Amino acid sequence: MIKNFWYAIEFSEEITSEPKRLTILGQELVAYRDTKGNPVIMSDLCIHRGGAISDGFLEGDCIRCPYHGWKYAPDGECVEIPANPPGRSIPKKARVDSYPAVDKYNWVWVFLGDLPEAERAPIPELPHFDNPDLRRLTGIYEWPVHYARALENGIDFSHGAWVHGGAFGNRDEPEIEDYEVNYLSDLSASATIHFRPQPVKGLWRRLYKKEKVQPYILVTNTWWMPNVTLLEVRLPFGFQRLFNAHVPITENKTITKWQLLRDFFKTRFADRDAARRVIKIFDEDNPFVVAQRPELLPYDLAAELHVKSDAIQVAFRKTRNKYLDMGYGIDMHKIQADYGNYQTVVIPSPARRENPELANAWVMKEVPVKGRELTADDFTRRPGDMKKSERRKTEDE
Ligand code: FES
Ligand SMILES: [Fe+2]
Repeated sequence: MIKNFWYAIEFSEEITSEPKRLTILGQELVAYRDTKGNPVIMSDLCIHRGGAISDGFLEGDCIRCPYHGWKYAPDGECVEIPANPPGRSIPKKARVDSYPAVDKYNWVWVFLGDLPEAERAPIPELPHFDNPDLRRLTGIYEWPVHYARALENGIDFSHGAWVHGGAFGNRDEPEIEDYEVNYLSDLSASATIHFRPQPVKGLWRRLYKKEKVQPYILVTNTWWMPNVTLLEVRLPFGFQRLFNAHVPITENKTITKWQLLRDFFKTRFADRDAARRVIKIFDEDNPFVVAQRPELLPYDLAAELHVKSDAIQVAFRKTRNKYLDMGYGIDMHKIQADYGNYQTVVIPSPARRENPELANAWVMKEVPVKGRELTADDFTRRPGDMKKSERRKTEDE
C-alpha cells in the first residue's frame, strides 16, 4: 500500500450528504458532501473513544460523532464537545485527519498523504471523458486480492489467449509481437499490440459481418500510478475503452470501479450486453489472479521471470518501486504485528505538516512506512533502474 498519491476511490454519485464509511488502504474513512456539494473525506476514527464518525449525522458542513456528539468541521477540527460547559476551550489535539478530495472523471479522488500541494503528483490526465458522444456505463467488481495484482492483470497482454477463450482469446494465436512501452509521464505508461481474437459471438457479430475477414484488432493497455488502468480496444466498428480504478480496500481485497466508454451501439438497449462482456472477462481472470503467489507484488524484480511481452507490467513495477524507495510504502505487516487491535494508526494528512505548531497535536499515530536496507547498488543507480541481474531476467530467453 502506497501513501502520498491521489486515489480514485468511489463513483461521484455514491458520495452524498449521507455520511458513508469507506475502507481504503486498510484505513477507515468517512465520506460525505458539504452544503456546496464538495466531497469531504476524513478519518472515521473519533479521537474521543474511537467511535465511527460515519454513523453520525451532518449539521451544515460539519459532522457529529453519534457516541458523545463531538462535532467535526470538514478540515477535521473538533468544533464542539457537548459535555463541556459553555466557555471551556476545546483541546488543540481535538482533530482528526482530513484529506484533500475532488470530483473528476465521475470518480471522487482523495489525496492520502501529507505532502504539501506543490509537491503532490497531479491527478492523471485521462483521455475521452469530456466527449459527450460516448456512451458510458459503470460498474464494480470485487477481487479477493491485493490491488497491485488486480492492476497488473488489467494490463497483461499475454494471458488473453489462455484465459479468455470464453470471450475473445484465441489459443491458436498466443504470440505477442514486440512492442514499445511509451511513458506518458513519470506516472504512466502505455503499449499497443495487434491482437487476433477468435471469431466474435452475440450482438457484435452483426457488425463484424460487414467485414470480409476476421481482422486484427488494436489493443492498448495503459496504467497510471497508483491505481488506474485503461484497456482500449479498437474494433472494426468502433472504440471501446474500459477505465478501471482498482481501489485498494485491504491487502487482500480490491474493488475495481470501472467505466466503459464506447462509440458504437450507444443505446441503452446495448448496455446489458456490454456490462455482461466486462463481467465475463473479470470472472475469467478471477481464479488465476486469486491463485497467484506471493499475494503481494514482489518488490524484487528478479523474484519473478519476465519476458519481453511483460514489459508494460515491468514498467509499472519499476515505477512503483521508485515510490517505495522514497519511503511512501505503508508497512502493513508492522501495523498488524505491532499494533494489532490495540492501537489505531492513520495516514497523516497535509495539516500535520502545514501546521508546525500542531505537530504534536495529533491523537492518532501515523502509519509506519517501509524501511528497506540500502545496498551498495542503491548508490550507483537511480530509483526505478534495474539491477544488472534483474535486467538479464527481462531479456527474452
Ligand atoms: S467516541 Fe465520538 S464523541 Fe465520543
Ligand atoms: Fe484478463
